[in-house]
Amino acid sequence: MTPSIPALTAHGARFPVIGFGTSQLGNCGEIVASALKLGYRLIDTAWKYGTEEGVGKGIKASRVPRQDIFLVTKVSHEYLKADAFADSVEESLERLQTDYVDLLFVHWPAIDGTPLAETMAALAKAKRAGKARHIGVANFNIALLEDARRLCPEPLSVLQAEYHPYLDQSKVLAHCRKVGLAFMAYCPLGRGRLFKDPVIAEIARARGKTVAQVALRWLVQQGNIAPIPRSSNPQHMAESLKVFDFSLTDDEMKRIHGLARPDGRIANPAGRAPKWD
Ligand SMILES: NC(=O)c1ccc[n+]([C@@H]2O[C@H](COP(=O)([O-])OP(=O)(O)OC[C@H]3O[C@@H](n4cnc5c(N)ncnc54)[C@H](OP(=O)(O)O)[C@@H]3O)[C@@H](O)[C@H]2O)c1
Repeated sequence: MTPSIPALTAHGARFPVIGFGTSQLGNCGEIVASALKLGYRLIDTAWKYGTEEGVGKGIKASRVPRQDIFLVTKVSHEYLKADAFADSVEESLERLQTDYVDLLFVHWPAIDGTPLAETMAALAKAKRAGKARHIGVANFNIALLEDARRLCPEPLSVLQAEYHPYLDQSKVLAHCRKVGLAFMAYCPLGRGRLFKDPVIAEIARARGKTVAQVALRWLVQQGNIAPIPRSSNPQHMAESLKVFDFSLTDDEMKRIHGLARPDGRIANPAGRAPKWD
């Protein structure tokens, strides 16, 4: 692990507090190799993003040893039945050119009636077979998360969900802390929506930092949260790692918390999203 990025731990999983997202990056081999060279050690991908092959190539090209990388992928909602799940994991590993991932997520809850118990058994089986060192769920609400924890024969370590200053996630965050799950924050920069925010811009100016750095600092400073910003720009990638040399005051933290708004959620696919907390 790169010494400059602090680690987060949960149920035996230990990973860098800032990771690198790859959705929408397409054939991302070179980008992933650059991210690894800059010091990122957590790479987030998914079958659904179509970036697993690029991530596999990027890891190889970077020459960073596989064991130094915390590799995350996800099984999509179309493959939550036992056999399809196992096949999806095998195919992901093949594309990633590796024997295991460090963290395997169920990407979204089932919408076709697949019993959660079946999916949780398949997830635990992947872990017991050594194909995933740690397991978790993404985009589950608290009730679904609790069902998943009860039904899964292996402990879940991480919940991945959307979080940035425009979205209030206080209920889910409090729940994760209570039950000892780490929270991995996707869309941490609000997919770019934060960049024109006058409050964050003012704080950034006063601190001699950028809006992205202030937004990421706000997330990591809360504790138990690991944001995974995505970028195709090496300057931005480097900048997003430099959030450990300053801290925000309580007042600045509060002002940013105050930016949450009812329509702040970005990833809300109709027919697939659960009833959010
Ligand atoms: N589990 C899920 O359902 C789910 C859903 C959505 C996302 N995710 C994961 O979370 C990752 C991050 O979310 P996201 O990709 O939606 O959005 P994001 O990271 O919030 O925002 C990405 C945008 O921010 C810009 N950016 C990044 N760093 C910057 C910097 N330092 N300064 C200025 N601009 C910067 C990027 O542009 P440039 O390329 O120009 O830097 C890009 O347009 C995804 O890639 C994916 O891995 C998971």
